[in-house]
Amino acid sequence: MTSSASAAVDKSAPLLAASNLTRRFGGLVAVSDLSMEVWPGEIAGLIGPNGAGKSTTFNMLSGFLKPSSGRLMLFGKDCTGKSPLAISRMGLVRTFQHGSLIPSMTVRDNILLGTFHSLSGPKHRERNLRAEETAEIFGLSDYLDYMSGALPHGLQRLVGIALAFAARPRLLCLDEPLTGLNQTEVASTLEVFQTIRRSFDCSILLVEHNMKAVMTVCDRIIVMHHGQYLASGTPREIQANDDVVAAYLGKRHAKQ
Ligand SMILES: Nc1ncnc2c1ncn2[C@@H]1O[C@H](COP(=O)(O)OP(=O)(O)O)[C@@H](O)[C@H]1O
Ligand SMILES: [Mg+2]
Repeated sequence: MTSSASAAVDKSAPLLAASNLTRRFGGLVAVSDLSMEVWPGEIAGLIGPNGAGKSTTFNMLSGFLKPSSGRLMLFGKDCTGKSPLAISRMGLVRTFQHGSLIPSMTVRDNILLGTFHSLSGPKHRERNLRAEETAEIFGLSDYLDYMSGALPHGLQRLVGIALAFAARPRLLCLDEPLTGLNQTEVASTLEVFQTIRRSFDCSILLVEHNMKAVMTVCDRIIVMHHGQYLASGTPREIQANDDVVAAYLGKRHAKQ
């Protein structure tokens, strides 16, 4: 496996800095005045109850929804209102909560799709090498010529993430990637997250309800509730935060 780790990253500046992001749908305020950051090299968690506004936040961070107000800085540039394509080309790529692959295409072709963001022109050989390297990282090498929609659920989730990572983003935003995975699949997927962070300088923003996984893999966690920022901190701090325990975690995940 070769590393495509990019040039030195400025660890003193956030990759992503959202300030006072707000999104209204008619009378409903789905996200209200949210400010948050993601720093180079970190795996950050974004958690909160269903309906808290996590996916709406992802939609704004990735350009799929324009904020009603607020500002989005990515990689030091103002990206408020930019298109998903422009944002993905800058280095932020996201997956979708309800699946991110094209079932009627092979695993290879799904992963190849992701390479079009970052490899311009017809360079077939380079694209194929990238797809094969990506498949290897995700343990998908044996499935490259399988129809994606025919694979077991766990492998389909991995193909969706592999497609996104094939663009070699600097920041990968994953919306509930572990849904429906068994314990072994969760463990191996978390290993992949560590590998891409370590070997490819890819930071991760993770929306996930599997609290054991979040507490294991995240360096820092941001908590949303009713569309608003509730807290942020290390997993230990979050588990000890009474507001977070009351709003979301419940006693089971609280630090005694
Ligand atoms: N396109 C939309 N139109 C109207 N309401 C929406 C839309 N998308 C999300 N919402 C509402 O915004 C709130 C936040 O939803 P969402 O961001 O999906 O939460 P989460 O991902 O944390 O479960 C919910 O009340 C949801 O019903
Ligand atoms: Mg959601």
